[in-house]
Amino acid sequence: MSTLIKILISLAIYYNFTEFKSEYQSFTQEKTLEQSIKDGQWVYEDFCMRCHLPTGKGVSGVYPPLAQSDWLVDKVDKSIASLKYGLKGEIKVNGETYNNVMPAQGLSDEEIADVMNYIMNSWDNTQEDMITPKQVKAIEQK
Ligand code: HEC
Repeated sequence: MSTLIKILISLAIYYNFTEFKSEYQSFTQEKTLEQSIKDGQWVYEDFCMRCHLPTGKGVSGVYPPLAQSDWLVDKVDKSIASLKYGLKGEIKVNGETYNNVMPAQGLSDEEIADVMNYIMNSWDNTQEDMITPKQVKAIEQK
């Protein structure tokens, strides 16, 4: 067999294997919504509660509410982006204007997915679709 063919065959085997491995990893990493909400609660208590408060109600005029927030429901992708990259400037939440700064919290894609699932399922909030780390990864800064 020529060397070139040998190289091509080994490359083919290598790529098949790495593809298989990443598929296997994303398969094993998937968690249930219930588990994601549980993990998200830890993230919330560590990183978000000091501003948005345990009630998720925030502080009127300073820290916007997450409980019953129309912004969160209408702008899921933008909410994910704000956790990845930070958020500043004027926004309107439930009719009230906020013009403040939320720094990026340095969370992993999985932590962002978990905390999104937590805030979207707390304080009478209910979500339709579960947020996954893959979805978080795909969101780019706008
Ligand atoms: C230092 C205080 C602070 C921390 C910590 C913080 N936020 Fe925020 N958050 C803000 C502020 C201020 C805004 C509004 C920014 C603006 O006016 O543009 C905001 C906006 C938001 C919004 C969009 C508006 C809304 O109310 O629906 C979401 C969603 C959000 N934060 C979620 C989180 C989550 C989840 C965490 C934890 C991972 C977190 N925040 C941590 C201060 C904070």
